[in-house]
Amino acid sequence: MRFAVIGLAGVGAKHVSVVSNLENAELACVCDVVSNIADDFANKYKTNAYYSVEDMVEKEKLDGVIVATPPKSHYPITKICAEKGIHVFVEKPMASYVSDCQKMIDVCKENRVTLMVGHKKRFVPALVRLKELTEGELGEIKYMIHRYPHPWMSSKDWFWAEDDGGGPILENAVHAADILGFLMGDVDSVYAEGDSFFAENRKPQINCAVYTLRFKSGAIATVGAGMVSVPAFSFEDFFIATDNGVAEVSGHFDSVEKIRYAFRKDPNNAKEEVYSGVDAFVEEIKHFIECSRTGKEPIASGEAGKKAVAICRAVKKSAEIGEPVKVGN
Ligand SMILES: NC(=O)c1ccc[n+]([C@@H]2O[C@H](COP(=O)([O-])OP(=O)(O)OC[C@H]3O[C@@H](n4cnc5c(N)ncnc54)[C@H](O)[C@@H]3O)[C@@H](O)[C@H]2O)c1
Repeated sequence: MRFAVIGLAGVGAKHVSVVSNLENAELACVCDVVSNIADDFANKYKTNAYYSVEDMVEKEKLDGVIVATPPKSHYPITKICAEKGIHVFVEKPMASYVSDCQKMIDVCKENRVTLMVGHKKRFVPALVRLKELTEGELGEIKYMIHRYPHPWMSSKDWFWAEDDGGGPILENAVHAADILGFLMGDVDSVYAEGDSFFAENRKPQINCAVYTLRFKSGAIATVGAGMVSVPAFSFEDFFIATDNGVAEVSGHFDSVEKIRYAFRKDPNNAKEEVYSGVDAFVEEIKHFIECSRTGKEPIASGEAGKKAVAICRAVKKSAEIGEPVKVGN
């Protein structure tokens, strides 16, 4: 597949490296509105540089793009590419607002191209194993506590802008929203308390929140998220309970490795499994290539990306009004 990576300064650099090392992918070109960034990558990877997506899609024959720009630009870029018949992998959050997510789903459907969202946690083996266990012998999750304390502070203005990154509760905690949806299904309502602690200069944007979620299945969960931690405490964890037992998944922030679980019928015996050495960025792009080729619905679909944005927007709304909020899609 002939790829372009759009947006290179941050996570786009990782995608460039992934694409240029995958056997069935070719880095056809790179694109960034900042010309010297695009030129530097093009020189390093011996490929073509573009400074506008419109110009790029006119001149290059592409099969897929990876969109790694700030969220406000995800819909316009997706539209340009989809209308040229190019499959779209877009970084999380899928967009700043649910309405843009829906427009992205529609334009990709109309043009029969694959749309996948960069919810890489769906490819983290310890979490995939938890899903497998809860769909099997452990049974469905009824209760979850997820600690997701981001270990550093963002200095990017777009990250904090309400109509772009939406602050840490959208921009970062969308990972938590998505993985809870992956593991527990659709959310009915949320209740949140949030504040600007540790990022007072970004007010009125909130930096952190603690919130509870009621799922349509009746299950309940609580999440603590925001830029509240430091690199020496770069961790996250999930504790879950089911009718048949309990489990804990833990490890490094954004790349948990260990799962422990025990059954109520054998309550003093915990099993432990450790999964390491898998790069979720590589796995998600391999999956995107497979879906683009076969027309299969991606594991991290546009619908899933939209639901995750809807949860984050409901959390922010609840923190603002001090009341529970129903999650609309
Ligand atoms: N999956 C992950 O773990 C992960 C990690 C970091 C960031 N992200 C996501 O990736 C996206 C980008 O975040 P970042 O931290 O890399 O941002 P960044 O600000 O570091 O880099 C964005 C780049 O996009 C370029 N750009 C902006 N608008 C553009 C446009 N219209 N066309 C072409 N280039 C454009 C900028 O010049 C910049 O080089 C965000 O949605 C973010 O949430 C995902």
